[in-house]
Amino acid sequence: TPSSTSFAVTENADRATPEQITTVLQDPGFGSHFTDHMAMIDWGRGEGWHDPRVVPYGPLQLDPSAAVFHYGQEIFEGMKAYRHADGSVWTFRPERNAERLNNSARRLALPELPPTMFLDAVKELVAIDQAWVPSADSGETSLYIRPFMIATEEALGVRPSNRVLFSVIASPAGAYFTGGLKPVSLWVSELYVRAAAGGTGEAKCGGNYAASLASQAEGIENGCDQVVFLDAVERRYVEELGGMNLFFVHADGRIVTPELTGTILPGVTRSSLLELARERGLQVEERRFTIDEWREGAASGEISEVFACGTAAVITPVGRLAWNGGEVAMPGTHELTMSLREELLDIQYGRAEDRHGWMYQL
Ligand code: COI
Repeated sequence: TPSSTSFAVTENADRATPEQITTVLQDPGFGSHFTDHMAMIDWGRGEGWHDPRVVPYGPLQLDPSAAVFHYGQEIFEGMKAYRHADGSVWTFRPERNAERLNNSARRLALPELPPTMFLDAVKELVAIDQAWVPSADSGETSLYIRPFMIATEEALGVRPSNRVLFSVIASPAGAYFTGGLKPVSLWVSELYVRAAAGGTGEAKCGGNYAASLASQAEGIENGCDQVVFLDAVERRYVEELGGMNLFFVHADGRIVTPELTGTILPGVTRSSLLELARERGLQVEERRFTIDEWREGAASGEISEVFACGTAAVITPVGRLAWNGGEVAMPGTHELTMSLREELLDIQYGRAEDRHGWMYQL
């Protein structure tokens, strides 16, 4: 699909050779290798968005006083490009990411970006770096796309920046978790919360992720892979993992996921799985869900499967929940989890009919 924004393109004279790319794509890991180019668009108050360009991937030159370094005025998105068997390259529901970026922008007092510019930047980057999109037969690898927006004005005054940079970078991705697809263990964070009502919990801003790191470290010290955050008021309701939403599958077929109360990131994978589950005739509930309901349901067998989902990690089964003073194992076959995972991946990789019109050719 041709782009309607006209990007000035500066080719990377040092781009990776096909052999170098092949080596990286054999074991890409997550987020540690980057493609040859990056897309950029500048914004100035009174000027609007200008200078769309694609340039060689490399360090940004920013003044040490740039607002993003001090007050964290920053937002981002996460998407993937998938190669289909015929060689074509597609992404998944990109209009959702464009819309969410603008929701985040409003919350962080950043300028909204026209969705066509957002999409055009993604298209331009993936077009020039298409050699980095793994082949269809390489399993579950994809090209992870990271759009982000930062406040670049040199100023220490606490106020919205008058200059902003929007950029898109891309990184070949294998499994998000090292060790591939094995059930993860979760630690219930009792010391900290991730977000409070009226805060930035539903915005995709760097600060939310920074705020999750100390809890994440606590989880790792306690032998777990990831942390579960509870609500800030009662410390009772399950929210999310910080980088993933949660689903609870009940033995009677009901599926529960925490409702979006303003403190939870509205995941694109989350909302797609809700649709897929409903289409299977499963009873789906978006409601508040307590940590006790989880502990007791897992112990009694009423909850048969728990999974986490997000763009980066797709769908990951949860095998254990631990907290200060106890734990409950959730063994089982993760049958529904794996079947929903397969259904979603089949759509994304073009192996199943795209009956919802979710796929967008880049
Ligand atoms: C995603 O893209 O799935 C994210 O939420 C970002 C991060 C957890 C890698």
